[in-house]
Amino acid sequence: MTVVDPAPLADLLDAAGTAPAAAPGPAPATDAELDAAFLAASARYWHPVARSADVGVAPVRAVLLDVPLVLWRRPATPEHPSGQVAALVDRCPHRGVPLSDGQVDDAGLLRCPYHSWAFDAAGRCVDIPQQPGQHIPDFIAVRSVRVTEAAGLVWACLVDEAHEARPRPRFPEVEDAGWPCYVGTVQDWNGQAARQVENFCDIGHFSVLHTDTFGNGDVLAVDPYPVRRTAWTIECDYRYPSLDPVAEPGPDGRRPVGETFFRYRIELPFAVWLGNAIGPDSVLFSVCAPTSATTLRLFWVGAYDPARYGDGPVDGASLQAVEDRIWAPDKAVVESQRPARVFAAPEVHRGFDALGVAYRKALRELGFAPPARRD
Ligand code: FES
Ligand SMILES: [Fe+2]
Repeated sequence: MTVVDPAPLADLLDAAGTAPAAAPGPAPATDAELDAAFLAASARYWHPVARSADVGVAPVRAVLLDVPLVLWRRPATPEHPSGQVAALVDRCPHRGVPLSDGQVDDAGLLRCPYHSWAFDAAGRCVDIPQQPGQHIPDFIAVRSVRVTEAAGLVWACLVDEAHEARPRPRFPEVEDAGWPCYVGTVQDWNGQAARQVENFCDIGHFSVLHTDTFGNGDVLAVDPYPVRRTAWTIECDYRYPSLDPVAEPGPDGRRPVGETFFRYRIELPFAVWLGNAIGPDSVLFSVCAPTSATTLRLFWVGAYDPARYGDGPVDGASLQAVEDRIWAPDKAVVESQRPARVFAAPEVHRGFDALGVAYRKALRELGFAPPARRD
């Protein structure tokens, strides 16, 4: 009989990121501990749950931090001519049926598909058709969730105002200055929100992963760049010798080299305001919402300064086509990362990772990772 020494196998598992590192020191947190910290911390922030244009009078499903939600648009009023969006936890208190399978009646009430109980935007049950005219006690209710609309997105916060960590991240160029914008298609990634933000802010991969669009494969070196931190933002600027994703190659077979002055502002924890990414005097606003501790729904909005581009509508189809070619390899990389959770195993950092390192530090400070166990 052959006896297999288990030690080499443990090393291999370490290398694959599927086993805890064997280095001495505090024991790493378990996946359950990591997820509990990540979900609890994330719950204290506003996250997008849908595009405004996708929420009409019919109920729409969304998931935020493992919580199923139902959204719908209420009837127009003089104060809200396009109708306010309502959000409830998507579970009928009577027999547990998803309310999103129901319908919204003419009064703007959400009716369960099973027995047609009606719920208002505050989650109160206001009609039980099987017992007409009878008093409905207050405890027959669904939990409502705070929602607001801004920058073409519907945002939700699962906790009340007293437990909210910070106000919703804003997109001033769209919300205040009225820049023409395009709200990109929504994407579901099988990856952790923190890893997506880190990838979006990772300067070192441009010239490797994106050479078929803006990446310049001739310039891999990353110059040092300073990182600035405020309470809720992390910023840096970087001039990158980018290629035009849609330019025709010249006689030498290469597309012309230009320069993109990337201006990053991470709005903690999961929104990124990125200046000039889609052209000079433009902003690409990327916000990912954690649908669970290890999955995300990505929203993005591109806006252009009318002083340079005029007031006309954005050519969304062209922008979407280019961005699709950039998001695709990013999605593949993030979904391939192991461990899936950003703080589950030690990773090495170099100077050009400064923005990502600052981001991880901020996430730790904000409680997105549990303290290392000392058992
Ligand atoms: S299950 Fe919803 S009304 Fe009965
Ligand atoms: Fe990328």
